[in-house]
Amino acid sequence: MSKIIINGGRKLKGEISVEGSKNAILPILAATLLNSGRSVIRNCPKLKDVEVTLRILMKLGCKVEVDKDTVMVDSSNITSTEIPVDLAAEMRSSIIFMGPMLARCGRVVISFPGGCEIGPRPIDLHLKGLRSMGANILDVQGGFIYCNADHLKGTEIHLSYPSVGATENIMLASVFAEGETYIHNAAKEPEITDLQNFLRAMGADVSGAGSGIICVKGTAQKLKDVEYTIMPDRIVAGTYMVAAAITGGEVTLNNVMPEHLSAVISALSEAGCTIKNDENHIYICGPDRNEAVDIIRTLPYPGFPTDMQAPFVSLLTVCRGTSIVVETVFENRYKHVDELMRMGANITLEGRIAVIKGVDKLNGAVVYARDLRGAAALAIAGLAAKGETVVLDIKHLDRGYENMEVKLAQLGALIRRQD
Ligand code: EPZ
Repeated sequence: MSKIIINGGRKLKGEISVEGSKNAILPILAATLLNSGRSVIRNCPKLKDVEVTLRILMKLGCKVEVDKDTVMVDSSNITSTEIPVDLAAEMRSSIIFMGPMLARCGRVVISFPGGCEIGPRPIDLHLKGLRSMGANILDVQGGFIYCNADHLKGTEIHLSYPSVGATENIMLASVFAEGETYIHNAAKEPEITDLQNFLRAMGADVSGAGSGIICVKGTAQKLKDVEYTIMPDRIVAGTYMVAAAITGGEVTLNNVMPEHLSAVISALSEAGCTIKNDENHIYICGPDRNEAVDIIRTLPYPGFPTDMQAPFVSLLTVCRGTSIVVETVFENRYKHVDELMRMGANITLEGRIAVIKGVDKLNGAVVYARDLRGAAALAIAGLAAKGETVVLDIKHLDRGYENMEVKLAQLGALIRRQD
């Protein structure tokens, strides 16, 4: 079981560059199925989830080449319409292949994505949207979903929740549908805008991303070969900002889009950090001790991102005062709390609410990562804790952070990885 070992107490200093966005590249890689041709994608992060997605594309018949942070996908020939069970099990967001496969092939078989560490992860909004476009979807027992669609038709879809994945799946399914598809109460996350920009670069007629109402005008035309550069990862950027804050450090992040981080910047400023930014850099200087933040409520974008909840809770455990966190997006996203309490944190959980009383110091301990952002939270806590912290099972971390231990060491952390 791979682990990272951290000796806490060092102030982070220096600068790092932030990799491309995991949650932008995954739907965009699925979208490469749509042009039956070549897609060259730059600023692609080196992550486990990207690797699994590329393996799925190859199993479907695509040719894939990777050269450092550039990925080439040739989707000219699709030889299968079945998403491999083992790969779908490794990454529940493989559900994003439904939309493009129905659009391209009119058929897809995919295993029902199980729940994951952060909750049941239903897909009812995905299925309802695709059915309203004419897809015939059988949720057959035995855990497989059989979908076919001889003819997808554009329609008006109202999402009861601004689901990121459902918005993306419907966008991808509607590119060749007859007529116009409107997605109301669509997710507004920046990754949706990146997907829209990628589809437009292919020649699809997509508009409205970020506004809450997305319009896709279906086309019968073949889509073009495309070259595209992925947006920076706003959650990775936010995570390193919190690492700088908790250590009272001084860090500059390069290759970021500050406008994607306004809720996180506001919360860190309230905690007492000094933050300056220009178009694609953020400078953050943490105080000797951060102040408690009255309340953090995770919300769909542009609210405080749920993916930043766990890292931010680590910071709040050592702030001066008491903070409240409300996790409104996922049902079970406090797996890191037990582990933080083993390090001496004072947290009371009541359903989706966490009451965090700041303590002077955390103590290093052996702790278990249970999910991706929880793993990041434990690494951040270890940076500030007295003594040695060992974070076990960091395969979770590798799903969403490119060489985190290398980047933190570059900033002066005493951190090493043991595989
Ligand atoms: C995406 O997940 C991200 N993953 C998540 O990031 C992120 O936390 C989430 O959006 C919210 O921003 C990727 O983009 C690969 P949702 P997704 O559909 O699409 C409920 C990370 O750490 N819901 O917006 O699965 C659902 O249960 C990951 O990088 C339904 O009820 O998120 C949840 O409570 C974690 N029915 C809420 O909506 C549905 O059909 C948000 O889910 C779909 C979702």
